[in-house]
Amino acid sequence: MLENYQTPNYHHDDALSISRDLVPLFKRRRTIRHFSDKIPPQEVITNAISVAGLAPSGANKQPWSFVVISNPNFKAHLRELAEREEYRFYVEKPNEQWVKDLAHLHCKIEKPFMTEAPYLIAVFYSHYDVNEEGEKSTNYYAKESVGIATGMLISALHLCGLSSLTYTPRRMTFLAKELGRPQHERTFMLLGVGAPHPEAEVPIITKKRLDDICSIYN
Ligand SMILES: Cc1cc2nc3c(=O)[nH]c(=O)nc-3n(C[C@H](O)[C@H](O)[C@H](O)COP(=O)(O)O)c2cc1C
Repeated sequence: MLENYQTPNYHHDDALSISRDLVPLFKRRRTIRHFSDKIPPQEVITNAISVAGLAPSGANKQPWSFVVISNPNFKAHLRELAEREEYRFYVEKPNEQWVKDLAHLHCKIEKPFMTEAPYLIAVFYSHYDVNEEGEKSTNYYAKESVGIATGMLISALHLCGLSSLTYTPRRMTFLAKELGRPQHERTFMLLGVGAPHPEAEVPIITKKRLDDICSIYN
């Protein structure tokens, strides 16, 4: 079945103006590793997840799940487990080059954001779904789809004035286990979300220029 669809249909001048405003707005999006203890309304988080849930996905399979964690004790427990993984990554089985590449970001074994950030959002995806009868159905391009949804989530949070930290410990299976996710779900990442701490600092980094990332064939 099909239904009629119309875009907002902006005048070209308006579209230009909006697109020009978006660039500086998104230049201000930065990964924050030091959060304020101010607690934004939970509905801002769930609305941003609703936006993520509108993302395109292979065959519209929507192969994602999001878990919001704000309970301080549970966040502390997850932090402890994450720091155990970090210890393994940095001390027990270090990948020298990877650790070197991370040096400029001031990442450490300690993950204070996991207890400071008012919300953690764990993102899961699955290569197949299982119905109540136990029958499996394939999800196509599951990882690409959840990546797009997570990008929309981060953008929606940013537009609401919230910052996020994309966190991907080397081994993330503890998250699915602790959150009691179904066997077929895989952990995609953990986002720390909240307002930046007034004294938050970010690494000075550069982004590639448009010419470096975009070719145009007119
Ligand atoms: C897939 C992915 C994984 C990341 N993993 C981590 C992480 O485990 N820890 C961390 O502190 N930052 C992590 N980051 C954040 C990046 O370091 C950050 O996006 C990058 O340095 C650019 O900085 P910006 O987000 O402020 O532009 C990750 C980002 C992405 C997209």
